[in-house]
Amino acid sequence: MLAVGDGRARQRAVASLGSNARFATVIHPAATVGPRVVVGAGAMIIGPASLTSDIEVGAHALVNPGCTVAHDCVLGAYCNLGPSVALAGRVTIEEGANLGVGVSVAPGVVIGAWAIVGAGAVVIRNVDAGTTVVGVPARPIARKFVGSADPQ
Ligand SMILES: CC(C)(COP(=O)(O)OP(=O)(O)OC[C@H]1O[C@@H](n2cnc3c(N)ncnc32)[C@H](O)[C@@H]1OP(=O)(O)O)[C@@H](O)C(=O)NCCC(=O)NCCS
Repeated sequence: MLAVGDGRARQRAVASLGSNARFATVIHPAATVGPRVVVGAGAMIIGPASLTSDIEVGAHALVNPGCTVAHDCVLGAYCNLGPSVALAGRVTIEEGANLGVGVSVAPGVVIGAWAIVGAGAVVIRNVDAGTTVVGVPARPIARKFVGSADPQ
């Protein structure tokens, strides 16, 4: 199990362990996981979270306590859902995207790879890969900070 919060760092750790490494899938006993929810190797659902049905959770994705993930969502590898993130149905979170505490995402939205969504944002439109968005409704900001150790 890799207890590494930052997605990029988690990805590097996986690479450093080589192709023979095997990873546990961790689902907290207080989590509610419905039918046809597929959770990838190394993914962690680390507290009371609710995943309804027909959901894919990618390898090494991290779902924090209090999250709700509705039907037909796809969570990419290495993505992070902060505490109490709420995803409506058919949302796609691409690889490595990082959603801060309390983010809400409207139905069908796609959040691009390694995008960052600031705490408390409400995302109603697609977010481009690598973009940082904040606010209600969420809009892009230019960030002073660029690097792998993104603020958690
Ligand atoms: C979005 C975020 C990554 C930006 O961090 P940053 O690049 O260091 O940005 P700054 O703090 O320099 O802020 C840049 C601007 O965005 C605004 N801003 C930052 N975060 C915001 C947020 N969540 N909501 C609204 N505005 C926000 C700041 O007020 C600032 O605006 P200004 O230039 O008008 O003063 C960070 O603020 C954040 O929300 N991280 C989420 C952390 C989290 O929830 N982690 C969960 C861990 S389990």
